This record gives sequence, structure tokens and C-alpha cells, in this order.
Amino acid sequence: MISASIMVASAKLTAQTIIPIETQNNALILQADADKDLGTIYFGKKLSNSSEYSQVLNVFKQTPDYTGMLNSAYTGSGSRNLLEPAITVTHADGNNSLDLKYVSHDLKKIDDDVTLLSIVLKDPAYNFTVTLYYKSYYKEDVVEQWSSIKHNEKGNVTLHKYASANLHIKGAGYYLNQYHGDWAKEMQSEESKLTHGIKTLDTKLGTRANLFQPSVFMVSVNKPATEDEGTVLFGALEYSGNFRTDLEVDYQDNLRIISGINNYASPYTLKPNEEFVTPVFLYTLSTQGKGVASRNLQSWARNYKLLDGKGTRLTLLNNWEATYFDFNESKLAGLLKDTKKLGVDLFLLDDGWFANKYPRNGDVAGLGDWEENKEKLPNGISSLVKEAQNNSVKFGIWIEPEMVNPKSVLYEKHPDWVVKQPKRDEYYFRNQLILDLTNPKVQDFVFGVVDGLFTKNPDLAYIKWDCNAVIYNAHSATLKNQSHFYIEYVRGLYKVLERIRAKYPTVPMMLCSGGGGRVDYAALKYFTEFWPSDNTDPLERIFMQWEYSYFYPAIASSNHVTDWGKQPIKFRTDVAMMGKLGFDIVVSHLKENDLKYCQDAIKVYNEIKPIIWQGNQYRLSNPKESSVASMLYMDENKSSGVIFNYLVNYRYGVNSSLPILLKGLDAAKKYKIEEINLYPGTSSSIKGDKSYTGDFLMKVGFNPDVNSSRTSVILKIEEVK
Ligand code: DGJ
Repeated sequence: MISASIMVASAKLTAQTIIPIETQNNALILQADADKDLGTIYFGKKLSNSSEYSQVLNVFKQTPDYTGMLNSAYTGSGSRNLLEPAITVTHADGNNSLDLKYVSHDLKKIDDDVTLLSIVLKDPAYNFTVTLYYKSYYKEDVVEQWSSIKHNEKGNVTLHKYASANLHIKGAGYYLNQYHGDWAKEMQSEESKLTHGIKTLDTKLGTRANLFQPSVFMVSVNKPATEDEGTVLFGALEYSGNFRTDLEVDYQDNLRIISGINNYASPYTLKPNEEFVTPVFLYTLSTQGKGVASRNLQSWARNYKLLDGKGTRLTLLNNWEATYFDFNESKLAGLLKDTKKLGVDLFLLDDGWFANKYPRNGDVAGLGDWEENKEKLPNGISSLVKEAQNNSVKFGIWIEPEMVNPKSVLYEKHPDWVVKQPKRDEYYFRNQLILDLTNPKVQDFVFGVVDGLFTKNPDLAYIKWDCNAVIYNAHSATLKNQSHFYIEYVRGLYKVLERIRAKYPTVPMMLCSGGGGRVDYAALKYFTEFWPSDNTDPLERIFMQWEYSYFYPAIASSNHVTDWGKQPIKFRTDVAMMGKLGFDIVVSHLKENDLKYCQDAIKVYNEIKPIIWQGNQYRLSNPKESSVASMLYMDENKSSGVIFNYLVNYRYGVNSSLPILLKGLDAAKKYKIEEINLYPGTSSSIKGDKSYTGDFLMKVGFNPDVNSSRTSVILKIEEVK
């Protein structure tokens, strides 16, 4: 993988040092030149002859690089740089300049797939170093990049900007596919050509950081990539707080991508010898379109990042939309029976089970007071856990431990634990405030909420961790340096999650944030799944899940069947099956056949879920471009798969007039396709008796026969031996 000449434990500068970061298909080639400036000389598809990387820059005839550092691997500022820096500092002596020079690099092969490269840079004028880290995943074509900043000056240094990564790409144009949203409108994509100057993707929301904009993005090089064609980079910051990604098209027409923590309101005072480690910037490059990039990212996530990514998940019945805050023990006893009747694994009790002085009967009170509400649950959670066991199902619970309602005992007791400005009025998001996780006492409290639940109820099997508010009036009553607030909040959150996972390593937890306001790979290290959106209208979900699937594997996507939308129960359930299936409906209100359909669908799901969770995902027909959406999940052996097909345009006579071209099959194998998951009493127009070669199915296709009377069609494709 990495050429033998640089497989040395560490290297010092020769006249020109070339440092390749190579994965199966790609190469990011760095070079420390004679002046010890470290720059990117190539980023793209791997060359067959690695000695030719040194020739790459010679074939470009762009306008001069006056600074000699347009392609810097980590751009400093205050010396000769003229563009957006990756790092900006004020030294202990008040000087604002930084010039980072290559010192050495070190390569560690962690295993056959993973290699960690570190490169030390140092300012010759100051005792200030930055170490760049590149963790590369060979098979997956994924790179994780971060930096560590340290100094030994005679006093503190202020970091004004401290990016994780600084990429440099050459191309004939760049097309940014970015995402925006709001509550119930998460992951709306828009694509535009990047013009000269800087486009910034960022958030300043602190918690629930992705509400308006997630950090995930795609950049196509030369022309907009399609599902199966074109060069495209997928990027994301693994961070649950404020992020900032600058995409700068410079005067030479190169693209510089600088990503890291948002430095907004956050100059960081770094003490001598203190290490500042940035979060990880994650990227994958594909020269065969978005589909390959997404499959690489998904398998990387399952193999390395998502908690229990290769494991299993629990199907569940949630009571949020079935009851909202209005429930008691006898109602819940009925729901536990319904959980069993439906055939799912677990009952998830949502918001509203706690607080006594200010009972949680709505979203205006009670957050922070995590003891069972005596009126609703006189016998406590433990009796519900037992009752669940009596029904042979598991029990899970909702919490929102970072939050507090001003109407709560917690607020009365610890007003100094709350994030607010001392001289200003409080301002609320969903009638609540954030607890100050920069304060270790608050960290203990939040850990204690989870720990207390498990200590009292060891059989508790699932946690839904919600986070419904953004940070207004960012200020901590105890933090010495207020400009560290946003950073210390996230550190505090991760400290708590670390403690939880040290004690409870395997219990499944859902990452929820008033819908999909907090989804990123730093958090998913601690969570088994996330909640994409409160919008569970299946038509909307087809689009939303489509976009999420570019970055996150289906096993992580909690999809619930609810009463949102106008579609029949089959449509709603089929859409929810394209991930981790759950229900949030009143089971007792289901018509007989609807109930029968759901019960059967759960059995079908239990059979096909290994393919959905661990298989390769192929987007066959894009709902944005066609009247039919089609998505295939195929197992690793290319022998068994599931195809989900939906009508997404309800105009007169619209149907799947053209066959859908399948992907990811073995051209030489023969396959049989049959419809599964039929509604009781209906039969399929697809006769599963014929077999087709993979070649035929990928060149001519298959027609799922989607039309206004068959709006949702699930097909099972199976190799015929
Ligand atoms: C927001 C979540 O997204 C919902 O699923 C639900 O748990 C509510 N919060 C409860 O307050």
C-alpha cells in the first residue's frame, strides 16, 4: 500500500521529502520542499508509478503562486500567506505571525487496513509545533485528519483559528452539494458551482448544532458527479458542536477546503505544553460517483466508528406520538401488551415520565427532575421493566439530560448550573435552557441521570438521548475563560459519554435532537443509531433517508412508522424498513388487516434486516429525478438483496413505465425476483417464476410495476443456483 521507500518508522528532511497517503484507489501526496514548506502536490486517483508524483506540478501552467504556499498542507497566517488560514495565533510575546516548517514524519501501520501518519511542523522563530495526523483506511478509501497544537513559549498563546484539516484540490471547477434544514425539514440538499472566494458552511448553535446545517457535504470536481460517474469528495467534521468549513476557490482556480471547530466567539488560550487536539475531519474521495463514496463511508462507519456497527439492533414500539405526555401505568401496561402483540423487541417510553413538584405534563416544566412522576407511575420504572419482561419484551426510556426547564427543582437548587448571561434575561428554546456541561459538577449530574437509571433498573435495555434546545446566551457561571465555553461544552459532553460507555459499553442508545439536530461521527462513537427527523411522513422520509444514506449506514437510521402522511400503512412501514425499524402508532387503533400486515412485516423485516443493515446500498432511481424511487441493498456475496420501490409522483397515470436498472449484481449469476411484504388479501402482479442473469438486470433492468394501486413494492432478489 504505502511505497516501501517511506515505510520507515520516522523520517527527517531530505532535499525534497515526498509523503504519500495512499488508499486502495486514491493518493494524497504531500511534499516538504527545500524550504521545508509542506504542501499538497497531488490529490486524486492513485498513479501506477509513484515516482511520477513529483512531476505533477510541472504540467500545470497556472498564474504564479507569489507566496509559495497556496497548496500548504496547513496554512499559517501573519507571515506570507494571503488566503484563508488553517491556523491563526498570537504568540506569548504578542506577535501574530506563524510559519510552519516540516520537521519529521512518522508512519505507523496499525493493521492491514489502517495506517496512521503524523507529520511534525514547527515555527523556526517560535517554540510552536503543529502535528498533522492522517489516519487512512485502505480498503474504504477513507481518511481521517486532525491536528495537535502545542507550544513551549514563555506564557500563553492565543489560538484564533485552529482547523482540523486543510485540503487542496486542482480541477476545472467545483460543485458543492450542501445541506440545510430546520425542525422536520432536515437534510435538504442543494448544489451550486463554487465561485471564487470563500463559501462557508458552519453552525453557531452550540448544541443541536446541525439544526440548520450539518457539517456533511460533497464536492464534485470538474463537473457535478452523478450516482455512478464523476470525481467527488464527501467530507464531514466529526464534532457535535460548532463547526466551520471554508471552501475557497483561489485566484489560481484551486479549491482549498479548511474544516474544523468554528472559531466564532472562541479564541482559545493555550498554556505552555498544553496540547490542543482538534476534532477529526473525515473524507472519502471517489472517481466513480457518489454511490461508491457512500458505500465506502457506510462500510467504514460500520467497521470502525458507529457503536456496534456490525452488530444487531432492536425493533421497537415508541409511545411519543401515541400518547404524548398523557399516560399512566395502566395505559402503559396496554402498550406493553401491544409491543408483544405487534412482535417488536422493545417498548420505548418517551418524554413525560418524570418530575413531581413541576410534573412533566407538557414541555414547559420538569426537565432536570429525573425521578418518576408519582401520579403517572406510582410503582416506578422498575415495575414497568418487570411488566415488560412479563410480556417478553424489553424496556427502554427517553431522557434529555443536558437540559433544564426553569420550572424545575433542579433549576431552583442550582441556578448556577444553567447556561445564561448573568446580566441578561433568559431566552428559551422549547421553554428550556441548557445545563452547563463545562462544569464538572454538571457532568457528574448528567452521568448520574443515566447511571441512576441503570443502577435502579439493571434490565433497562435502551436509551433515547434527546437534545431539544440550542445554546442562547453562551456563558458559564464557573468557567474561567468564557471564550472556551463552546469547546468545553462539547468536551464535557464527550467526557460524560465516555464515562457512560466505560460502565455500560453495549446498551443501545439513540442519538436524537428534536429530530435530527445532532448527527455526526464523533457522537456516533457512543450511539448505536440516530433519529433523522421528527418528520416521519413516509413520502418526505424517502427523500430525507436518501440524503442521509450518502453519509450514514442504514443500520444507524431509526425509522418509525407513525401517523404522519397520507399513505397507507404498507407504504409507511416499507419506508421505515429501509433502516432500523420502529413504530410509534396506537396499535389498538389499527384495523384488523393493518395489524396483520404490521405483524407479518416485522417477521419479513427480521429475515431481511441483515441485508439492510450490513449489505451494500445502491441508489437505483432518484426520487428527485424520477416518479419512482428505488433503493437496493445487496449482500456482500452478491447473492441476496432487497429492492424498495415507491411511487413519489401522484399525477394521473404515472407509473414505473421504464425498467429500473439494478446495480451491484454479479453479471454471470442468475437471479429470481419476487415481491414480498404484501398487504393481506392482495396478490402481486410480479410472478417470481422467471430467472434473469445479473447482466440482463444491470443492462435492461427489472420493472417493479409501481403504479397508483401499487405505490410501494418490496422485491427480494435471490441468486438461483
Ligand atoms: C423531540 C424528539 O425528536 C421526539 O421524538 C420526542 O422524543 C420529543 N422530543 C419528546 O419531547
